[in-house]
Amino acid sequence: MISLVIVFLGCLLPLLAYSDNVIVPGATWTDTSGNAIQAHGGGILKVGDTFYWFGEDKATNSGLFQAVSCYTSPDLLNWTRQVNALVPIDGTMISTSNIVERPKGKLDVTNSEYVMWFHSDSSDYGAAMVGVATSQTPCGPYTYQSSWRPFGAESRDMSLFQDDARTSYLLYASDVNQNFKMAQLDTNYYNVTAVVSELFGATLEAPGIIKRNSVYYLFASHTSGWAPNPNKWFSAQSMVGPWSSQSDIAPPAVNTYFSQNAYDLPLGSGGIYMGDRWRPDLLGSSTYMWFPLDWSSGSPKIVEADVWNVDIDAGTYSVAQGVGYEAEQGLLSGAAVLFSNPAWSGGGAVGWLGNGGSVTINNVQGNGLGQWITISYANCDSSWRSTTVSVNSGPTVPVDQPNTGGCLVTLTVPVKLDLVAGPNSITVGSNQTTYAGDLDKIMVYG
Ligand SMILES: *[C@@H]1O[C@H](CO)[C@@H](O)[C@H](O)[C@H]1NC(C)=O
Ligand SMILES: *[C@@H]1O[C@H](CO)[C@@H](O)[C@H](O)[C@H]1NC(C)=O
Ligand SMILES: *[C@@H]1O[C@H](CO)[C@@H](O)[C@H](O)[C@H]1NC(C)=O
Repeated sequence: MISLVIVFLGCLLPLLAYSDNVIVPGATWTDTSGNAIQAHGGGILKVGDTFYWFGEDKATNSGLFQAVSCYTSPDLLNWTRQVNALVPIDGTMISTSNIVERPKGKLDVTNSEYVMWFHSDSSDYGAAMVGVATSQTPCGPYTYQSSWRPFGAESRDMSLFQDDARTSYLLYASDVNQNFKMAQLDTNYYNVTAVVSELFGATLEAPGIIKRNSVYYLFASHTSGWAPNPNKWFSAQSMVGPWSSQSDIAPPAVNTYFSQNAYDLPLGSGGIYMGDRWRPDLLGSSTYMWFPLDWSSGSPKIVEADVWNVDIDAGTYSVAQGVGYEAEQGLLSGAAVLFSNPAWSGGGAVGWLGNGGSVTINNVQGNGLGQWITISYANCDSSWRSTTVSVNSGPTVPVDQPNTGGCLVTLTVPVKLDLVAGPNSITVGSNQTTYAGDLDKIMVYG
């Protein structure tokens, strides 16, 4: 059982329940068959009460096209894999030696047809096209139509935004990723008819739009390859602009909690930021970073939620409140050292973990039911590290730690552990020959 606080109209109300029914950004999410969800760079289509999640299947870790997957869910938590929406066709732009990224599906009411657009490219990203496929059913399989450059210009990272039942737009990075464009689609959703807005020199990728109280909010990252950067928002009263200058959706130091926007879904008076935590050396192990988007400050901000839940019908979300245990309160062993700095939570952290150094935190209260723990750490290398966690001297569980972009910049990574009911000892950094990130604290949920 996880205790949660439901956020509704600015109020905080205590609420119990949900156990496994939570969204844990950065965890390996599994479908109803127990397999890791392969839907990277994805998009959501809602038809009736069902959510359809399309994405890139990168199970083989290759960047080349394997399949566009389709998953269905009634609640955004419990996902069932369906037939693949799009599969490779030899001798076309969607063969297994090409690139198909960021698939987005919409229903076109003119023809009562589902139309999927995607970034269609050659393996060296030289083609820079959009592709379109169509189907009579939401998951398809979709029939590939063609790939081309809109108005003869490049299209790379892209998304679709449906404004009303008949009006949709292609959002796309063009002209060597320098200019960002928005183009209206024709009534069939087969082609673009006119560029309605262009952000010159904006260098944006990974776009999405949420319309809220008649205002259009564009979300996008900048361009830094697979590495994350501070994603931005822009607003306008109309799709033809003018668009506001860029603002951050999260504190810039954390690089959007090490993620890149993939899709933005309206929810009640707010929305959900759906991002990817790309892992370029192991693409299929890239994880999903979904967070509530909150407008209570007057502008959209990501709610930093390690463990949360969503109530689709009510249009609300609930953020679990964990219990924190500071690393500097633990017992250091081996080469581990104490760091003091007011930038750390509690004023301290433990470094030189791994390679003989470890820290044990005692009296961690467990409930005996399987619990989410998050590890708050800093890793100022330019590449990922990993750490280990063990409960009551049991087997060590490895946990990946992306680079945080600064030695005093912390991120959290989740791990599900079996704590006994009552006090537990949690050891971090033992049984590993590499160096782990510096440990600020752990948070225990449940
Ligand atoms: C998830 O969906 C499956 C298939 O629809 C269903 O059998 C199962 O009860 C659902 N689980 C939860 C926790 O809602
Ligand atoms: C899209 O429209 C342009 C301009 O009318 C046309 O040249 C192009 O062939 C169309 N592409 C597709 C795939 O229909
Ligand atoms: C130590 O780590 C190795 C993997 O590096 C693992 O196979 C082994 O089970 C671990 N030992 C313990 C006691 O957890």
